[in-house]
Amino acid sequence: MHKAQIGVYGLGTMGSALALNLAEQGISVAVTNREADWIAPFVDAAGPLADHLLPAPDLTSFIALLARPRAVLFMIPAGAPMDAMIAQTRGLLEPGDMIIDAGNADFRDTIRRSADLAADGLEYVGMGVSGGEQGARHGPSMMVGASAAGWARLKPMTEAIAARFEGDPCVARVGPDGAGHFVKTVHNGIEYADMQMIAEVYGLLRDGAGWDAGRIGAQFGAWNNGPLASFLTEATSAVLGAIDPDTGVPVVDVIVDAAGQKGTGRWTVIEALKLGQSASTIEAAVGARAWSAGQDVRGAAAQVLVGPKAGNMAAPDPDTMAQALLAGRILAHAQGFDILRAASDDFDWSLDLARIAEIWRAGCIIRSALLDDLAAALAAGPHMGRLILSPTISDLLNANVAALRQVVGGAMQAGLAVPSLAASLGWFDTIRQARGTANLIQGQRDYFGAHGFARIDRPGRFHGNWP
Ligand code: 6PG
Repeated sequence: MHKAQIGVYGLGTMGSALALNLAEQGISVAVTNREADWIAPFVDAAGPLADHLLPAPDLTSFIALLARPRAVLFMIPAGAPMDAMIAQTRGLLEPGDMIIDAGNADFRDTIRRSADLAADGLEYVGMGVSGGEQGARHGPSMMVGASAAGWARLKPMTEAIAARFEGDPCVARVGPDGAGHFVKTVHNGIEYADMQMIAEVYGLLRDGAGWDAGRIGAQFGAWNNGPLASFLTEATSAVLGAIDPDTGVPVVDVIVDAAGQKGTGRWTVIEALKLGQSASTIEAAVGARAWSAGQDVRGAAAQVLVGPKAGNMAAPDPDTMAQALLAGRILAHAQGFDILRAASDDFDWSLDLARIAEIWRAGCIIRSALLDDLAAALAAGPHMGRLILSPTISDLLNANVAALRQVVGGAMQAGLAVPSLAASLGWFDTIRQARGTANLIQGQRDYFGAHGFARIDRPGRFHGNWP
């Protein structure tokens, strides 16, 4: 009997799209789903690609369809559902088989599961997949956490389905076990920051300059032809330009201003803090989503807390806005790559940051013209491994940060909220201070807690003779 090269469990949006992408590459794919009644309609809708699909009504027959050593890819909700699936599946597998978790998992779960399944001789691969439905169907960016042997097995299949940037497949083994999911988590943290800063610029144009959605959308469309070119810039233009068929007004004007979040942005910030890193731009974006969800409090606060009148902002010129957004985007990426560098040291992953930037140049949600520059800067080996110390990136920042300062300053004077843009600028000004103000913090700590401090003029640990 003909066996499948891989099995895809979970025929939701992303799982179906990945299965069809694999099938399109001529790879035979066993497919199944928890709700068995989804399977036949999926295969029917696959058209000629159904020739490469082997549907199974349940987990046991699904596993039986797989060629040995087996590769089972799960695209199901992260957390407890994945643990439950592992518990059901592991007894059906044998040493040498592989489970691939392609969901947005917490990398700590991936490390734990990987060690647990290794006891049965099974490899557990954590694979971050970015690009949404279209990406999964026609070419995602994939960040793989696997052993070298596991990667050797997965490489041909994943390279066949990956997005390509100038012919280079946007997939890599970034490290072992949890490394792939960690890199995907930080990708999402940067995604949150970029989306938030775009939304802040939208807010300035809407509430500061009084532009309507169509005009702002057209502006993002124009920006997409310059240094801000990116999937998210383009998506923003499309979203702002869409009209609600029921009311005839822009769709964006009928959408409730409360953002959802599944957790990856929050995890980025949590892990950054654990690593002693600053992810202030990303944190502001996660916080802004949380505040957006507290609509009742915002509604009440709007009645009692006063600020400058809306529409008070001097009309910002679009070039300045674009430069401000670019500076914010650079700083958010710099924070993201700093987190990756710190995690690489902490977990001993030897992450290749340049390769990570390269596989983000196509297929993923944060793909952008900027990522090409960042990849080149990282490949050149910036001083201390820091993007902000790369000559090309510091030049780019210096050329654009005055606009960020102007926009943030203007927004603050006008009482318009720009938490992520402001956090970016705050970090920029902090990190370029050769002499900061933490000498006072150390003095305070020693004053009330005798924590001691270092002196600038001699080695050792000292205490002040405080009054
Ligand atoms: C991607 C996306 C994708 C999804 C996340 C984020 O890279 O393709 O990040 O994984 O959009 O689920 O979702 P939330 O905004 O709900 O956290």
